[in-house]
Amino acid sequence: MKPTFYVTTPIYYVNDVPHIGHAYTTVAADVLARYKRLMGYDVCFLTGSDEHGQKVEKAAVTAGETPLELADRVVKRFQALWERLGISHTDFIRTTQERHKKGVAHIFRDILEKGDIYLGEYEDWYCTPCETFWTETQLIEGRCPDCNRAVEKLKEESYFFRMSRYQEELLAHIDANPDFIQPKSKRNEIISFVKEGLRDLSVSRTTFSWGIPVPGNEKHIIYVWFDALTNYITALGYPDETGNYGRYWPVDVHLIGKDILRFHAVYWPTFLMAAGLPLPRKVFAHGWWTVEGQKMSKSLQNVVEPNMLIDKYGVDAVRYFLLREVPFGLDGDFSHTALVQRINSDLANDVGNLLSRSTAMAVKYFDGVLPAPATLIEVDSALKHKTEEMVGAVDRLMDELAFSKALQVIWEVISAGNKYIDDTAPWTLAKDPANRERLATVMYCLLESQRVTHCLISAFMPSTADKALGSLGWQEDISKEGLQWGGLKPGTTINKAEALFPRIEG
Ligand code: MSP
Repeated sequence: MKPTFYVTTPIYYVNDVPHIGHAYTTVAADVLARYKRLMGYDVCFLTGSDEHGQKVEKAAVTAGETPLELADRVVKRFQALWERLGISHTDFIRTTQERHKKGVAHIFRDILEKGDIYLGEYEDWYCTPCETFWTETQLIEGRCPDCNRAVEKLKEESYFFRMSRYQEELLAHIDANPDFIQPKSKRNEIISFVKEGLRDLSVSRTTFSWGIPVPGNEKHIIYVWFDALTNYITALGYPDETGNYGRYWPVDVHLIGKDILRFHAVYWPTFLMAAGLPLPRKVFAHGWWTVEGQKMSKSLQNVVEPNMLIDKYGVDAVRYFLLREVPFGLDGDFSHTALVQRINSDLANDVGNLLSRSTAMAVKYFDGVLPAPATLIEVDSALKHKTEEMVGAVDRLMDELAFSKALQVIWEVISAGNKYIDDTAPWTLAKDPANRERLATVMYCLLESQRVTHCLISAFMPSTADKALGSLGWQEDISKEGLQWGGLKPGTTINKAEALFPRIEG
């Protein structure tokens, strides 16, 4: 039986249309899912939409729709974008689905019965846009510490989750599992936060109605984060242990943005502890994109629309840029100049050029029939060795979610391929029939190195790799075994590759 791998993205709010930040997490999750699949894992890849709560309720009023009409309309935009971006999720959960509502009610009731949810009264400062209560000391100059907007004093009857009880257990878990929260800087932030003390958390609201009612006390609506976080198990059919839940939980990695780390690294694990369920293996918080040096915001009208980027530059270039430009976990800046630069140098020049040069030579010197290699000499073995080393290095880096470094390692082999052509000068070898065997070996090594490289690239740029592997005559499924040197069989038909990435001028 295949080993399993479960990866998730956050579920996106439907009160906003998709932008580059949403695309970022989703593409990263997709690359990981594709990579794990090619390494032989049975992958569950979940994304979805977060449709309840006051924000959605308000957006619906503004739009003159019911919340569900709004959700139905906006969720299509997310789904269409994921399709365009080649996202290979295996499930899409909407929090308005029955399966989700049932699961949320179940876990809420379960924790209530176990005694860690109780009815009390709440009074504190509330930030409506963030749907978060703040204590007096958390406010910054009397305003919301997250978004800097005005807050209001609210008092309501509320259910509370006894989060305070789990402080030590959570710290012990973080301590015993160094990889649980990543990157490390974020892990330290969470440790300090938890050490400051966990207060019981209000997990119901009576101020609005768009959400999942508390079982047995329907005037209370379950807090939107309690509802949303639970998607990661309701999508698996929780509490039914016989199906996907038993198979895939605990999740291998929750990919999220840094702004929602606290919910995933403090709230969610303590909810799970209270319900007696296993904790996620890893929560990884990536950084935020600014745009041309500025915070992305509607009011600045600088929101980067992924569809527009795809129209202009193509899907694979966008996928590549997002993961190559910024080390996963750090903040980064989006600019058209940087994107064009990457396309022209890494994609058109390096990988595209290498493939078209080498397949053109195979057609010219061997009529497009892959020759058998003779004995490898030092320069050939060096390329082979570098290619083989890349496979191991990429595997380690993918485990660390170091996408940018993994791409760098792949691109080192591409540069080595370009240099190999210069060093071996096939055009000179071709002049003398006595060098025929030598030329055959050079062509074989050159093409085989790229075949292995494109198998790895397929996780990042699926259609580019498809085209490249098509020119290289590789018909088989991409698999772990296929990453070994020697996969291309002599006699295979090689076709001259079209330019994978045309240069972008100006
Ligand atoms: N609905 C919640 C998540 C619930 S998960 C149980 C939510 N939704 S969101 O649509 O507002 O944001 C989703 C993700 O987009 C977050 O991970 C956030 O970090 C990410 N991004 C939003 N703006 C971003 C950038 N400018 N850059 C990178 N990621 C950004 O939060």
